Amino acid sequence: MSFLWPVVFVVGTAVFAANKVTDIDVDCRKDSVVVKWKVNKNLAEKPSSLLLGDCSPLMFAPDADGGGEAIFSSGLSDCHFKQTRTTTKVIYENNLTFRPLLKPNSALFTYPIQCVFERSEGMQPFVKPAFVVWQNQGDLIFHMGLLNNNLSGPALSNFFPFGSFINIWAAVEQQAHQPLMLYLEECVASTALTLGAGSWTHPIIANKGCLIDGKNGYSRFLPRFESSSILLQLQSFKFAMEQEVYIHCKLVVWDPQDLNEEKKACNYDKITGEWELLDNPSQNDLCRCCDGGCKQRKTRSLHSAQAQRSVLGPLIIPASSSGTSERVTRLKLGT
Ligand SMILES: *[C@@H]1O[C@H](CO)[C@@H](O)[C@H](O)[C@H]1NC(C)=O
Ligand SMILES: *[C@@H]1O[C@H](CO)[C@@H](O)[C@H](O)[C@H]1NC(C)=O
Repeated sequence: MSFLWPVVFVVGTAVFAANKVTDIDVDCRKDSVVVKWKVNKNLAEKPSSLLLGDCSPLMFAPDADGGGEAIFSSGLSDCHFKQTRTTTKVIYENNLTFRPLLKPNSALFTYPIQCVFERSEGMQPFVKPAFVVWQNQGDLIFHMGLLNNNLSGPALSNFFPFGSFINIWAAVEQQAHQPLMLYLEECVASTALTLGAGSWTHPIIANKGCLIDGKNGYSRFLPRFESSSILLQLQSFKFAMEQEVYIHCKLVVWDPQDLNEEKKACNYDKITGEWELLDNPSQNDLCRCCDGGCKQRKTRSLHSAQAQRSVLGPLIIPASSSGTSERVTRLKLGT
């Protein structure tokens, strides 16, 4: 999957200094950290059990009274450093541990290590139109991007105050094809650019095109201008506020004449409490499975649907001071 987004680079200086009290000295550098840890006799007996994340010390220097000093030197992308980003800072976290027994036994000593970098340029709104283009294996070209409030052009900022609308536009270029219908089969928000087991996600579209986020807020698919594009008006949520959020979607194209439980776009109407089929309200029953599970059809089609996974972002939902109602749903992947 290619990711062609304006990337915000981080250049920063460490602002976290060592905590001398515990005889642990942390020196945060541009992309690395040096940790010096003076240990007593008990810990010095097993220097290989002293760990920074999953890394052993680079060197261990015994001292005269039986203790010693372990020195770790690591890149901030190594040794299982955890990275989080806020609007103004990039934070790298890890643990220094004494682990004489192998995992899953717990560590006998844990000390948190943190390097905090100011983002010198802060997080800027998009400077270029916020669009991503992919070329599929076939002859289809998919696009996904953010539109401004009045849908007249690309969004110029990636900041979306809580409760405001994020207009997500997706389209497929038809080329010489017969007419195609584009669906968003599945979308989640995550702080991770690459989803993996353990990524926190906020589900938006699930069950083959059901806009489940519309049950909490006022997110909805807007009426289509053309079958080959779709507009999702997503109300910004409280998931991962102040952090970079990525929208991961699976785009699928299909025959516009063949609406079915697998190829559909369903809105939830909060007033009636019913699901509605975006492309043909007389077939709303295709959306009925949204509250349960929309199953795979048994009949095999001659054509297989073309699909494309894509990521949009980063988006930022700044923390708001006003006490608005909670809209938090969190799912952990791979559990
Ligand atoms: C450090 O250890 C604590 C407690 O054992 C754990 O909650 C935390 O996630 C660890 N941090 C990292 C960066 O692994
Ligand atoms: C649409 O919104 C943009 C800014 O978001 C503004 O510059 C433009 O004038 C608006 N266009 C119309 C037709 O309202």
